[in-house]
Amino acid sequence: MRWMKVHIHTAMVATALLLSFTLGLEDSCLRGEHHKPSPGPETSMRECLLFSNSSCCYANFTEHLVSPVTTVVKTKWNLCQNLSDSCETFMKKIECFYQCSPEAAHWMNPNYPAGLLQVPVCASFCNHWFSACKDDLTCAKNWLTDFKWDKDSNHCQHECVPFSKMYTNGTDLCHSMWGQSFIESSSSCRCLQMDDQDTVVLPFILHADSKSSNSESDVEKSCQEALLGHKKLSTSEKE
Ligand SMILES: *[C@@H]1O[C@H](CO)[C@@H](O)[C@H](O)[C@H]1NC(C)=O
Ligand SMILES: *[C@@H]1O[C@H](CO)[C@@H](O)[C@H](O)[C@H]1NC(C)=O
Ligand SMILES: *[C@@H]1O[C@H](CO)[C@@H](O)[C@H](O)[C@H]1NC(C)=O
Ligand SMILES: *[C@@H]1O[C@H](CO)[C@@H](O)[C@H](O)[C@H]1NC(C)=O
Repeated sequence: MRWMKVHIHTAMVATALLLSFTLGLEDSCLRGEHHKPSPGPETSMRECLLFSNSSCCYANFTEHLVSPVTTVVKTKWNLCQNLSDSCETFMKKIECFYQCSPEAAHWMNPNYPAGLLQVPVCASFCNHWFSACKDDLTCAKNWLTDFKWDKDSNHCQHECVPFSKMYTNGTDLCHSMWGQSFIESSSSCRCLQMDDQDTVVLPFILHADSKSSNSESDVEKSCQEALLGHKKLSTSEKE
């Protein structure tokens, strides 16, 4: 009986959330130089395929992200040396989200519409990103402000050091590399992993900003259950 009650309640909260999410969905993209005016399907993406059904980047943008990535638009990723495959994978997830996610505009920086402000990223993502890049080299802590620029590209103005020296830990990496774009979330569910589970948790993240009578812990619990359901489903699909 208790089980039933919890599940009916969860289903109701989830439905209400989904409904308000769908109705309130902003059909827009960030206002960067390479962003589309509004999201739509792209058929020939080489990378960022997570967003192929609804993308804020054109397929041709993703050519920049085909391994080995050296320069993305004008930003050289390999000023010190080429990035390792594992580090590149994480850098790409972030770049794909920024350029292609149809949800990114929810976090448009009010002072700079081409940029993000405080997208909640999972602590586990920050930690894995840090481990993946710790032995790679960088000469800038904040990649938005700490390079020297000419009209062609970025240049180092400090010496190259390992990520593990430049950043203290995953939190520091998430909070520093792209300025104020990302913030580590204290929730284990209502945060982005930059993968396919994000569509499941997004309604619960966006809900936190809207007015509703559901308490924080109810939303967190519903989120955990929705995520568990998604994980079970994707495991059974693989079998
Ligand atoms: C795109 O949409 C199709 C049809 O709804 C779905 O089967 C597929 O999983 C979606 N792809 C992605 C990457 O979400
Ligand atoms: C990328 O594709 C878009 C839309 O098809 C086009 O407008 C744009 O000029 C292309 N960019 C480059 C660099 O080819
Ligand atoms: C970095 O990658 C590029 C592109 O594959 C390659 O041409 C270059 O030789 C690599 N540089 C080093 C130092 O490995
Ligand atoms: C990560 O580093 C920051 C300092 O940059 C520190 O305040 C924080 O406690 C560290 N977090 C962990 C989990 O060690």
